[in-house]
Amino acid sequence: MNVQWYPGHMAKAKRMMQENIKLIDVVIELVDARIPLSSKNPDIDALAANKSRVLLLNKYDMADQKYNDMWKSYFEEKGYHTALINSKNGHGVKQVKDIVYKACEAKIERDRKRGIINRPVRAMVAGIPNVGKSTFINSFVGKASARTGNKPGVTKGKQWIRLSSKIELLDTPGILWPKFEDPSAGMKLAFIGSINDDIIHMTELSLELILFLNKYYPDAIKNRYEIEIPEDLNEPKDCVSTLAQIALKRSCLMKGGEPDIDRAAGILLDDFRNVRLGRITLEFPET
Ligand code: G4P
Repeated sequence: MNVQWYPGHMAKAKRMMQENIKLIDVVIELVDARIPLSSKNPDIDALAANKSRVLLLNKYDMADQKYNDMWKSYFEEKGYHTALINSKNGHGVKQVKDIVYKACEAKIERDRKRGIINRPVRAMVAGIPNVGKSTFINSFVGKASARTGNKPGVTKGKQWIRLSSKIELLDTPGILWPKFEDPSAGMKLAFIGSINDDIIHMTELSLELILFLNKYYPDAIKNRYEIEIPEDLNEPKDCVSTLAQIALKRSCLMKGGEPDIDRAAGILLDDFRNVRLGRITLEFPET
């Protein structure tokens, strides 16, 4: 299955990102803990060259805890300052200020040597659509932080939020574009609902999801729908019978009494996206 996707507004987002990144010291990059690589923008390394970097694995509450810890170590080994966070309920968000400041230590030291003391570091949140940027900013900023107006040297209209005497955050997140060219990443982005469902064949997508789950989380479907899955599922078309079973279990029947495969596909994807199949990670760090 090939997900073709390049919305026109991404070109504008790219320009905005290039403009805003000049103003900041540190990029707080959000990825989805269920697909840390597929939700990571491929060009960010070039864009954020010479900036301090923080990588937050957001929505860890939806991902498999076993792999959460492995992914955290993976990125730490790559030199990132990293945390697992749940922006929705705030878990893990409190520590981010310290992490941001730590990521900037070298820069603060350079400033100090040049006589620049007590200048707050400037941060920006960035990530692909739907990764949780706005939710994170709201949680991170909280109610107490002051929004500062325009400042000399800063493009008119940019708002900075003072998080402490040490950190200021650009109030609009940088929107990054996902990995369009990688079909496997496109499919995983579609699984989690980060690609407009209108351009996707939902039934095809759900067959791919069954194939994946059967391999890595064999009990997820069995337990949710109380059905047996054949062991020899090798390609998407082998999974149609599973959709038929789900349709029968959920009384999704067409006029002639045939199972409604398309409705079952919708139910499966909706259950997956709402964690009703359990906490599931869709890609794994190489061990
Ligand atoms: P964006 O700015 O990057 O585009 O993402 P946004 O904050 O709008 O978040 C996208 C969706 O992800 C929202 O759900 C939000 O609630 C959810 N979300 C963000 N962070 C987390 C997290 O850590 N854990 C979980 N479980 N969900 C998270 P929505 O369905 O669009 O809205 P709502 O129904 O939650 O209001």
